[in-house]
Amino acid sequence: MTNQQEESVCRRLVGRTAVVTGAGSGIGLATARRLASEGANVVCADVDETAGKAAAEEVGGTFVQVDVTDAEQVEALFKTAFDTYGSVDIAFNNAGISPPDDDSILTTGLDAWRRVQEVNLTSVYLCCKAALPYMQRQGKGSIINTASFVAKMGAATSQISYTASKGGVLAMSRELGVQFAREGIRVNALCPGPVNTPLLQELFAKDPERAARRLVHIPAGRFAHAEEIAAAVAFLASDDSSFITASDFLVDGGISGAYVTPL
Ligand SMILES: NC(=O)c1ccc[n+]([C@@H]2O[C@H](COP(=O)([O-])OP(=O)(O)OC[C@H]3O[C@@H](n4cnc5c(N)ncnc54)[C@H](O)[C@@H]3O)[C@@H](O)[C@H]2O)c1
Repeated sequence: MTNQQEESVCRRLVGRTAVVTGAGSGIGLATARRLASEGANVVCADVDETAGKAAAEEVGGTFVQVDVTDAEQVEALFKTAFDTYGSVDIAFNNAGISPPDDDSILTTGLDAWRRVQEVNLTSVYLCCKAALPYMQRQGKGSIINTASFVAKMGAATSQISYTASKGGVLAMSRELGVQFAREGIRVNALCPGPVNTPLLQELFAKDPERAARRLVHIPAGRFAHAEEIAAAVAFLASDDSSFITASDFLVDGGISGAYVTPL
């Protein structure tokens, strides 16, 4: 972070408790850092013990090892957040996978389909179900569920279960946002465009044509930085977004608005 960026970071989340799933890497890690820098107590949840612990140590938070597909572990995660810090104000339900055996519908097997649905969609159902009762008792809370721009747009480079799972996250978030709006709880689906994660970099370094095929559709002409997605999460988590709920919150560099992109 540059000095200028550091100076401009606000402290909108002082005293709030945030649970971040998938906090060990990528968008989750960048978000754990951002929420902590804005003053939140951050509970870093990840199935990967080494990465999750490192994230929690870095942000001065608490690590909970959890497989987000397991109902009991997810309940224990939110209970730990409440028992440690006294509230559950923000749930960033973000852990997800995008495995190579999830591809065209013609070649994707039922096992791969089911695994992606479990990790990307069932997990969000479990996390929302566990977080909501705390937020109902508090009369406030912000839930941000990570969907994707592919929930809104079709791709010829299909990952069929991934896309369907993110469509589910989007519809579920909208419904919860509507259902709990009068209880002070906001629920939004975050829809990032492609993010410049280490995994993506490695994949595209090996196969530049694959990167070019995607980049041509992005008006901004580049992939997002994880910190840019984290900034949107911090906004949705804070009272600055107090009238935003049940939304499909796109952070996509203009992809979803584009027909012809600049040369
Ligand atoms: N990277 C992108 O271009 C992009 C674009 C749109 C949406 N997304 C979504 O953003 C989210 C985060 O993606 P990322 O790129 O930061 O991924 P990432 O692979 O860098 O990080 C995901 C984290 O989730 C954890 N995780 C995986 N399965 C888990 C499980 N069962 N229980 C608990 N933790 C688990 C991993 O250990 C990892 O630390 C995902 O939901 C992804 O679908 C990513």
